[in-house]
Amino acid sequence: MARQKIAAGNWKMNTSHSDGYFLAEALTKAKRPSDVQTIMAVPYTHLGAVQALTFDKKNISVAAQNFHHEEKGAYTGEISINMLSSMHIPYAIIGHSERREYQKESNSLLATKLNLALSKNITPIFCCGEKLPIRKSKRHVSFVKKQLQQGLFHLSKSEIKNVIIAYEPVWAIGTGETASPAQAQEMHAAIRKMLADKYGQAIADDISILYGGSVKPANAKSLFGQPDVDGGLVGGASLDAPGFLEVINSF
Ligand code: 13P
Repeated sequence: MARQKIAAGNWKMNTSHSDGYFLAEALTKAKRPSDVQTIMAVPYTHLGAVQALTFDKKNISVAAQNFHHEEKGAYTGEISINMLSSMHIPYAIIGHSERREYQKESNSLLATKLNLALSKNITPIFCCGEKLPIRKSKRHVSFVKKQLQQGLFHLSKSEIKNVIIAYEPVWAIGTGETASPAQAQEMHAAIRKMLADKYGQAIADDISILYGGSVKPANAKSLFGQPDVDGGLVGGASLDAPGFLEVINSF
């Protein structure tokens, strides 16, 4: 998969079925730049409806926010990768900080999930990012490096090419506080260098790295204008169609 401009919305646990449908319909019908891939990571209950809206469209598609690390079995309430794959869901978020925090998802569990997604040709959006104390003590780059080493770097060259990375500093998620464009660029360049060291520059240059954390219409342009920022993973601001369209048009 070549490096792309991507505007991904993570709806988290928001919207009723009908509100979600109308939001997805508005985004699907809207005029969007043809060189930007728009992705909507919707709740499980909305996957079928949003998939039906988008499956025959070229540059807008649906993503799952998560799936279980076992392929099937007695896991009441869980969703398997096979269920997503049987619906032809093209993307899945893996390792969002909210799941790392509340569901205690570890780097090694996330590595298992990455393998599962890739085995079903579902493109993982792999999240990483540090909490505030780590940023304050200037250990953010080494912290993210460890997340990638333990969660991602077991992949082969041919596998890593099919992964999207999202850098989401936890202190900027849902807080209204955004990493400055320079802070985002510093980390994205560091991540690309880690990828280059491990897989070679050509592969590193081909991987899309998204920034997440209070992206909104007012700051999207300056963030997306950074050379190593290939787009955004957007929470709150992706729930409003006109606002998210502004974000989509910020490249
Ligand atoms: P906010 O854009 O609401 O800060 O959320 C970011 C995020 O967690 C996207 O996955």
